[in-house]
Amino acid sequence: MNIKYIEDKRLFKIDTEATSYVIGIVGKEGFVGHAYYGESIEDDDVTYLLRIFEGPFTPDTNERDRLSFYDCFPFEYPTHGIGDFRESALRIEDEAGHYSNNLKYKSHMIYKGKKGLAGLPATWGNEEDSMSLELTLSDYEANIDVVLTYSIFEGVDAVVRSAKIINNSGKAVFLTKAASASIDLDNKDFDKINLYGSWARERHINRTPVSYGIQGMYSKRGEPGHQEHPFTCLLEKNATQTQGEVYGMDLIYSGNFRTITDRNQFDLVRLMTGINPEDFRWKLENGDTFVTPEAVLVYSNEGIGGMSRSFHDLYREHLIRGYYRDKKRPILINNWEATYFDFNEQKLISIVDEASKLGIEMLVMDDGWFGNRFDDNSSLGDWFVNEDKLKGGIKYLVDEVNKRGMKFGIWFEPEMISPVSKLYEAHPEWAIHVEGRKPGLARNQMVLDYTRKDVRDYIYGLIKNVLSSANIEYVKWDMNRPLSDIGGAEIAKDRLGEFMHRYTLGVYEVMERLVTDFPKLLLENCSGGGGRFDAGMLYFGPQIWCSDDADAIERLVIQEGTELIYPLSAMGAHVSDCPNHIVGRVTPFRTRGHVALAGTFGYELDVTRIPEEDRNMIPAQIEMYHKYNDLVRTGDYYRIASYAQNGKFDCWQVVSKDKTTALVTCVLVRRSPNTRSRNIKLQGLACDKRYRLLNEDGSEYINGMAGEEKADRVYYGLTLMNAGINVTEAWGDNQSMLIYVKEV
Ligand code: DGJ
Repeated sequence: MNIKYIEDKRLFKIDTEATSYVIGIVGKEGFVGHAYYGESIEDDDVTYLLRIFEGPFTPDTNERDRLSFYDCFPFEYPTHGIGDFRESALRIEDEAGHYSNNLKYKSHMIYKGKKGLAGLPATWGNEEDSMSLELTLSDYEANIDVVLTYSIFEGVDAVVRSAKIINNSGKAVFLTKAASASIDLDNKDFDKINLYGSWARERHINRTPVSYGIQGMYSKRGEPGHQEHPFTCLLEKNATQTQGEVYGMDLIYSGNFRTITDRNQFDLVRLMTGINPEDFRWKLENGDTFVTPEAVLVYSNEGIGGMSRSFHDLYREHLIRGYYRDKKRPILINNWEATYFDFNEQKLISIVDEASKLGIEMLVMDDGWFGNRFDDNSSLGDWFVNEDKLKGGIKYLVDEVNKRGMKFGIWFEPEMISPVSKLYEAHPEWAIHVEGRKPGLARNQMVLDYTRKDVRDYIYGLIKNVLSSANIEYVKWDMNRPLSDIGGAEIAKDRLGEFMHRYTLGVYEVMERLVTDFPKLLLENCSGGGGRFDAGMLYFGPQIWCSDDADAIERLVIQEGTELIYPLSAMGAHVSDCPNHIVGRVTPFRTRGHVALAGTFGYELDVTRIPEEDRNMIPAQIEMYHKYNDLVRTGDYYRIASYAQNGKFDCWQVVSKDKTTALVTCVLVRRSPNTRSRNIKLQGLACDKRYRLLNEDGSEYINGMAGEEKADRVYYGLTLMNAGINVTEAWGDNQSMLIYVKEV
């Protein structure tokens, strides 16, 4: 890891373990361009990659055709209005309405360590394990500076970037675009991958060619949403899980985002991410600064899998914080699908009585414990325990749960207000609304105006009271509707365009207070399932509820898309009820367990009412969680087969960092008649280590040769990766198996 300025060549070179990122200053005026990002290179003069000597496009020698230069130069942070007609990263309007800006090199600073971003989630590091470059560009005519900050981390092949805009113009200006990162790459016959979906089917993988012009994903919902995701991956057409060049770009942000590709006339592809410029207009007074969210760039020449592993390492080691960052999470049982709103303290205690015997470690009391909440039509905002439902109050219940040896967690939806609530009676103006217009409801609820400090203080005060009243060790922070009808009683007319971003900053502020006041609290984010599964949220809580769809087969697709970027340790996954409440599918309990073991693991069912045969499997599943979770949480993830692609069979593998153990999970979704065993190639093992293959009960896995006597075989890693192993098709659909690979 190193960052240097090669003065005689006017190049900045950012080197991670296996990649180089190079920025060049060119011309007398000091234009700043993106020269290279890819596999490591030496400190050679690569200014030729900026192509400033080709054709007529040289600003120093061809004043009559500056626009041709602007329209093809790979600007490191492209501005608007001067003649680069591709998508710009920065657009600023002055008081007269002009919107042209031109940035040139001003100064730079390279230092050890990594600074935080005020009010925003961001990666973190110290002087031993990280390094940063602050590159200041200036619009000398307008007197506006832009500081581009880049940081890297020891042993992680990722570069994080953000931009700070400083207004010294003497007057107020309006930012109408301020992207976090933009990078221009030569098109290598790129495909791109985005994640799309809907409620209950989040983060499905969509791979398409990169076509000319602009393509992208965005959110206007006030959260990333179930439908789109702030992630784009560019990859060579022939790139697979294991080979080919891949660029990933993710955003550490939980609000309105936009991620785009813009392929131009010269086949340069501009890849950009940041706050969605639609509905964004930020007033920057003279002397004020604006900081963008942080973007994450990953390059891998080991295919998609290499990219995923870099994201996982970065997020586990330099984004997620707090008490549970490196710890096994308590196995929880959540009562949502068990009872919905129909519960009281006795019902919950009866679940705990059974759950504690089976080895489950925490009860999470979901929606319905407060106000007059007997269905989803009321009471959001009234965060007072309903003592008719929970006789003896929350302390009594938590003590009873603790007495039975289990921890206690609770559900909140802190950003919401029901029109039927005491809070709304007292403060209708606290709901987001446009004066004189009836706001649209979703799930019969409205959103609180989190741009307001009084609202945030009030809600946080109530949450703090509840959490301080008993031994509550976990919070599920839910959010069940997007933002609409944007307006508020307090926000100034010329600052309405700041509302969406200020809302997100408000949410972050309350979350920060929560994790500061309760440092041992386990915070699990949720938004109607996985509507806000983003890197921003991971800064506050180490895990996120992946989807309301916990059907094991649907989850194969959802979890594959999620694992593309996010570590398994972050993925909220439970064994849920059957027939599944969302799709009605019946899946073996064993398969549900195997799929949930790929995430945080827990249960979402009434353990007192499930078939005895299933209940009897729980202790063994819990034993497996304890046996494998360190590996799953901290290991390297490899995707071997994709049910989403082949429609039949799913397989993934986690390998410990020291390559001494691995866990392979296979799910056979559709059994075909008259087939032979399936060969799968393991990945990520040490070629020269010798391994034994084991079933989940510890017996030898006999490599597809069902019926054969114990053979006591060992295999070199090289063999397991090149020749693979055979997996015999199980009897019936939706069957699964684990293979534990252990060095001998
Ligand atoms: C949506 C969540 O995703 C569910 O798990 C549950 O908490 C409900 N909200 C409660 O209203």
